[in-house]
Amino acid sequence: MSRLHILRYPDPRLHTIAAPVEEVNESIRSLIADMAETMYAAPGVGLAATQVNVHKQIIVIDASDTRDKLLTLINPEILAAIGVADCEEGCLSVPGIYEKIERAERVVVRARGLDGEHFDVEAEGLLSVCIQHEMDHLKGRVFVEYLSRLKQTRIRAKMQKQQRQSA
Ligand code: NI
Repeated sequence: MSRLHILRYPDPRLHTIAAPVEEVNESIRSLIADMAETMYAAPGVGLAATQVNVHKQIIVIDASDTRDKLLTLINPEILAAIGVADCEEGCLSVPGIYEKIERAERVVVRARGLDGEHFDVEAEGLLSVCIQHEMDHLKGRVFVEYLSRLKQTRIRAKMQKQQRQSA
């Protein structure tokens, strides 16, 4: 396993739309193991393949307190979205920024797992928010893009300054 490089906002590659995975094979499983290692090391609660510059519909999430409940979603689709919740979100691609975003309170998602089989997951709370946030990445959308233009401009400037300082 190896840790992968995480793209930082406003990297334009974060706007790439991910393609569905055709076959869940060893190379996909190996990528997923690397994504999980990268997420746990960061540490973060979720990571989309888009963030490691692989434009395939793959997400890893662990929203548990114990950090031992890895959920892998391949080709996820939302079957139902119920209610409204606004939760403070953060993102490994936008370090240090936390903002409230409006999401569905509960979602039912269908995806393929590591064995390639389809399964449904019903989520609420942090897990629901996290699934929606990561699915947005697969569509090329970063959470800060829900904010006002003014806030986005400020965040972009802050990120570019951070990157200049670490370069
Ligand atoms: Ni994110």
